Amino acid sequence: MDAKIPVGILGATGTVGQKFIRLLDNHPWFRVKELAASERSAGKPYEEAAAWKQAAPVPDAVRRLDLRPCTPDLGCRIVFSGLDSTVAGPIEESFAAAGYVVLSNSKNHRLDLDVPLIIPEVNAEHLGLIPLQKRNRGWRGCIVTNSNCSTMFLAMVLGPLHAAFTVEEVMVVTMQAISGAGYPGVPSLDILGNVIPYIDGEEEKMEVETRKILGRFDGGKVNLAGFRVSAQCNRVAVEDGHTESVSLKFARKAPVEEIAEALRAFSGLPQRLRLPSAPEHPILVTSAPDRPQPRFDVGLAGGMAAVVGRIRPCPVLDVKFTLLGHNTIRGAAGASILNAELLKAQGYLE
Ligand SMILES: NC(=O)c1ccc[n+]([C@@H]2O[C@H](COP(=O)([O-])OP(=O)(O)OC[C@H]3O[C@@H](n4cnc5c(N)ncnc54)[C@H](OP(=O)(O)O)[C@@H]3O)[C@@H](O)[C@H]2O)c1
Repeated sequence: MDAKIPVGILGATGTVGQKFIRLLDNHPWFRVKELAASERSAGKPYEEAAAWKQAAPVPDAVRRLDLRPCTPDLGCRIVFSGLDSTVAGPIEESFAAAGYVVLSNSKNHRLDLDVPLIIPEVNAEHLGLIPLQKRNRGWRGCIVTNSNCSTMFLAMVLGPLHAAFTVEEVMVVTMQAISGAGYPGVPSLDILGNVIPYIDGEEEKMEVETRKILGRFDGGKVNLAGFRVSAQCNRVAVEDGHTESVSLKFARKAPVEEIAEALRAFSGLPQRLRLPSAPEHPILVTSAPDRPQPRFDVGLAGGMAAVVGRIRPCPVLDVKFTLLGHNTIRGAAGASILNAELLKAQGYLE
């Protein structure tokens, strides 16, 4: 008998949906049972409906699975959502109302007061919002979200730094990969040999989501972290991996070596619980003068770690460094899967 928990993927044909399929193939706890997408895809076998863009072939387990419409009558209780944000809001709500646990990648519910926005190493205690969400909305299921992809890596490194030095100001400039725009995404003639200094809504997401993730849960609500964030977001001609130039001001001043050590030594609940997708070290610190670079470093720790380099004093704020993460793995599908593993380990999937 298969002891694995059956799961579904909403938006299974898209960039994030494909990453879910790849990362869940042979997962020790979860088995993909249902795939769903738009009415355009519904009824077709997965390999016919999806424009598969992963390096490995479509896993045999899902190749011939017929796509279902995104209605809450799937044969599973847990759904991972990689739905387009223009449709994710009401679809995810309908699943949660019908009793499903929804792990969402979309922006629609991230800032709802009763919806947890989780990075398991940083704010696992925000899962305490789940009972409130169910009560408020009369839902049998719930929605748990992970952050916008560029917010993910920033909030991961701010976790240990805010705890140790109290962050007061954050300045961040991003260089974001084209896979972050989904498929087919940005036209090649717009992005080749070019930088686009605008990603719709991205700066606002970074400026608020980061403060929610680093906020304190008081048993009833999350109080946003008190620091200010100024983000400038750019799309660059990189396939996978968001790079960020970060400058921080702290309440407690510390030498660069102490800051690097706080990042290097960071470890959280997923590491203590030995969750299957948890990287051994959530933050990797490199001392090479010209790293991290997406071409060489985006796949470190299976794409589940944030990679930090060039940590040095900042003449305007206190410290500055370069940050890199895999936008569709730790920045999306891998983050949702880690959230689901945390939910299981903490008894929320019973
Ligand atoms: N790409 C990233 O790096 C990244 C990172 C973090 C978060 N996100 C978020 O994750 C979500 C998915 O992003 P993506 O890049 O994977 O987008 P994408 O490649 O455009 O895929 C969108 C998915 O939504 C489905 N869909 C579209 N309209 C639908 C409808 N009316 N009903 C049901 N399904 C519908 C599509 O199915 P069809 O194929 O049938 O049209 C497809 O499976 C977005 O909310 C995005 O903001 C993306």
